[in-house]
Amino acid sequence: MDARVEPGHDGTRDKADGTDDTQAIRGRIPLPQIKINGVEHAIDADPQMPLLWAIRDIVGLTGTKFGCGVGACGACTVHMDNEAVRSCLTTLADAQGHEIVTIEGLSGDGTHPVQRAWQANNVPQCGYCQAGQIMQAAALIKQTPKPSDQQIVDAMSGNICRCGTYQRIRQAIKSAAEGV
Ligand code: FES
Ligand code: FES
Repeated sequence: MDARVEPGHDGTRDKADGTDDTQAIRGRIPLPQIKINGVEHAIDADPQMPLLWAIRDIVGLTGTKFGCGVGACGACTVHMDNEAVRSCLTTLADAQGHEIVTIEGLSGDGTHPVQRAWQANNVPQCGYCQAGQIMQAAALIKQTPKPSDQQIVDAMSGNICRCGTYQRIRQAIKSAAEGV
């Protein structure tokens, strides 16, 4: 539960004063504070919870996808301090104190150079992997503004697309790097 909305309350009340033991415990344990797309969230969850669960199920940002849950597909890729990370392998404790950006926060209006290049090159097919692909590509361009073909292949090698859009992905990254 996002404590911005409903702090420390799970709907149960079993004491005369209307509180419960869970609330008492929560009152003593600081909630993980996670900054996502510039907004601080006190996440009412175990600090070992994967960041992906919190992003999707607690904060309600569903652009980041669950694919494998074990770091093998890239569908869950977000940025942590401008680096691409797998949010299925990143815990809330790992994320605390860092700037997390999801696909919803990459640009306010879908005009990040990578997003524009994706549109210009008609990259997506089913779309399921694409948020992760875009976040991975945006981190690459940020770190290496003019990547070589091999750098593109290497950087994107952990992002799986079951629809096989790899050729268009590579073309779009080159377009983005050229400022399209
Ligand atoms: S869901 Fe995280 S890498 Fe596949
Ligand atoms: S566009 Fe369908 S999985 Fe990549």
